[in-house]
Order: sequence, then C-alpha cells, then structure tokens
Amino acid sequence: MIPTLDTRPDLATPRLSLRRPAERDIEAIVSIVGHWEVACRLARVPHPYGPEDARFFLERIVPAEWVWAITLGDEDRLIGAVGLTPEQETAELGYWLAPAHWSRGIATEATRAVVDFGLERLGLPGLTSGYFEENPASGRVLAKLGFVATGRVMRPCMAVGRDVPSVRMVLKP
Ligand SMILES: CC(C)(COP(=O)(O)OP(=O)(O)OC[C@H]1O[C@@H](n2cnc3c(N)ncnc32)[C@H](O)[C@@H]1OP(=O)(O)O)[C@@H](O)C(=O)NCCC(=O)NCCS
Repeated sequence: MIPTLDTRPDLATPRLSLRRPAERDIEAIVSIVGHWEVACRLARVPHPYGPEDARFFLERIVPAEWVWAITLGDEDRLIGAVGLTPEQETAELGYWLAPAHWSRGIATEATRAVVDFGLERLGLPGLTSGYFEENPASGRVLAKLGFVATGRVMRPCMAVGRDVPSVRMVLKP
C-alpha cells in the first residue's frame, strides 16, 4: 500500500533514524536553521529565524510535504532534516544538517533513504533538486545520489534577499 503523509513511516539507515519532525524539535530547528551558514544555502528560510518560523515549518510544511527529522541512531535529538516537496509529477529533494555534523557522509546517507522511499514506495517517476553554485558540497551530495545537472538558473534565496546562481538537478531511476 502506498503510504500517505499522515502514515509516513520512520526510515532507518546504518547510522541514522528518520522520523516525523515534532514540537519537541523547535529548539534544535531554530539553532540549526538560524545558523547563517545553513540559512544562506537554503531557498526558503528567512534570516534571522525564530521559534515562530520553526512553528510554521511544523504546522504548514511538515503536514503537506514528505519531511523527516534526521537523528543519530537511538538518539532522539534532531540534527537535520530531509524532505520531498511534491511537484506536478515528481518531487523536489531538500535537506539541511547541523554544521557540527558536516563532512561525515550523513546528508548522503539520509537523502539516499528518502530518495529510495520516493522512487520505490511512492513510485515517483523521478526527482528534482538544485543547489546554489556557491554550495559545492550540496552538489556533491546530489551527484553521489546519481542526480545530473540540467541547467543553471537564478533562484531566490530568502535569507540573502536576492536571486542567486543555482544549478538544477534531476534524477531518473
Ligand atoms: C550540504 C550539506 C547537507 C552536506 O552535508 P554533509 O553531511 O556534510 O554531506 P556529505 O558528507 O554526505 O557529503 C558532502 C560531500 O561534499 C564534499 N565537499 C565538502 N565541501 C566541499 C567543497 N567546498 N567543495 C566541493 N566538495 C565539498 C565532501 O568531500 C563530500 O564529498 P565526498 O563524500 O565525495 O568526499 C550540509 O553542508 C548542509 O546542511 N549545508 C547547509 C544547508 C544546505 O546546503 N542544504 C542543501 C541545499 S541545496
């Protein structure tokens, strides 16, 4: 049976547990997304970012999109998030991780689980994503997942307050 947003299953990887983000994550979300080095690499988060923004994420984005909190093994504490934003036929992959955990392959491990979920469990015909040109680490994550570049576009970055050069990516199963 195809899962629904309300019955979204938890996902597990060798090092990570992915679960639905919840009210108890507000402090961690504010601390991570409020970090300039995270916010400036994301399209749709304001800066500064406060508890009311985290509440908007929990009340408006989480129920409408396939978003998971990234947690380490048995620890419940949120260290990042990964999600699929539904599009007409496909969905757009997005993700962010606390800087303290960068460069250990965690984003690749978490996104791979969600990509597999989208293609295998939801039966999506493909996925889209994108990254700002000044964020090559994210481009590398997408390349490791098998995404390929389809072009360059200017894309709004809410935190920076203007359009910035970005690369569109697509994944076909
Ligand atoms: C992008 C982000 C999710 C990466 O998380 P991560 O757990 O460090 O990613 P991984 O360790 O799985 O992979 C990072 C890859 O980028 C590479 N990398 C890191 N910095 C790099 C740089 N400046 N230039 C090129 N490659 C770089 C790493 O070496 C690694 O590749 P490798 O496995 O081939 O060595 C994290 O930096 C983040 O949350 N950034 C802020 C939010 C964000 O950018 N979200 C994505 C928006 S499109």
